[in-house]
Amino acid sequence: MEKRVFSGMRPTGKMHLGHYLGALKNWVALQDQYHCIFGVADWHALTTSFEQSHLLERNIIDMVMDWLSVGIDPEKSIIMLQSLVPEHAVLHLLFSMITPVGWLERNPVLKQQLQDMGLKEAVGYGHLGYPVLMAADILVYRASWVPVGEDQVPHVEITREIARRFNFLYQEEVFPEPQSILTEVPRILGIDGRKMSKSLNNYIGLSDSKEVVRKKTLSMFTDPEKIRKNDPGHPEQCNVFSFHKVVNNPSLVELKRDCEKGVLGCVACKEELSRLLVDFLEEITPFREKYQGKESLVEELLVEGSKKARPIAQETLEKAQKAMKIAYQFVREGKEGVR
Ligand code: TRP
Repeated sequence: MEKRVFSGMRPTGKMHLGHYLGALKNWVALQDQYHCIFGVADWHALTTSFEQSHLLERNIIDMVMDWLSVGIDPEKSIIMLQSLVPEHAVLHLLFSMITPVGWLERNPVLKQQLQDMGLKEAVGYGHLGYPVLMAADILVYRASWVPVGEDQVPHVEITREIARRFNFLYQEEVFPEPQSILTEVPRILGIDGRKMSKSLNNYIGLSDSKEVVRKKTLSMFTDPEKIRKNDPGHPEQCNVFSFHKVVNNPSLVELKRDCEKGVLGCVACKEELSRLLVDFLEEITPFREKYQGKESLVEELLVEGSKKARPIAQETLEKAQKAMKIAYQFVREGKEGVR
């Protein structure tokens, strides 16, 4: 059997540069090497945003549109929606039976989230089970590789533990133990120097217009010690300079020298960055035009992808149920009359 890759994202809407550098760039590259499945984890979004469930539909389409724009290719990979493949939920339920709560309570990602959200005691049952659902996403396709950012590694680790425990309990190698593939890409900060994120509104969107990119770029913080144009700057500590690296500025060496010498002012430096960023965004979204404004095409591709994913998921679920001896004989003989 050829090795499969699975990865997913919660549908947060339009994608930004952080998503691209941290994940999408890698996904695009992996498509040529492996059999890839990329999933929209809409149920995962509900673990924390159940009060915003009405936003999901719009966010799913916006996100997938950006996936397609950067070159996630429905001819090469399967692009699917979690909630359209109910086997994810069934496998999640089966896994929930064999997963000790202690593993989930120890999850560092959860601990951090609870701290950030001030939720301490009020963690939802589904939220606690986030890694179990993620294990189901990955293992329902018996994926061997999971390209994710560092922050998701603890979840993949729990996935491995669940796979190992299942195989041990039912004495059959139903599931491989998947491995994280870490993306060795430069981590990019937002325009305010904090982690780039939608909620902090400090991002450069993949589909931002020229004007928006320029406005955002010009508002970026620079080296606080460089107040006047002629003050010598410290590019290695300047967020704007790290953006110049990300967009592969061809005159990086000169830019650095001129900044340090106090020949180049911050405004001119940012004007240059804004131009380069616009070109860069265009370059990394080669299929923007193909999909722009074509929501129904995007929807169709997502449904078609889910249809391709489902038989794989069904096959795995069947294997799991057989190993557990709960693929009951009388059901298989068609006496059930409930399907
Ligand atoms: N938890 C992931 C994130 O927030 C999204 C996700 C859901 C995922 N299911 C997955 C990632 C399975 C990899 C594999 O980014």
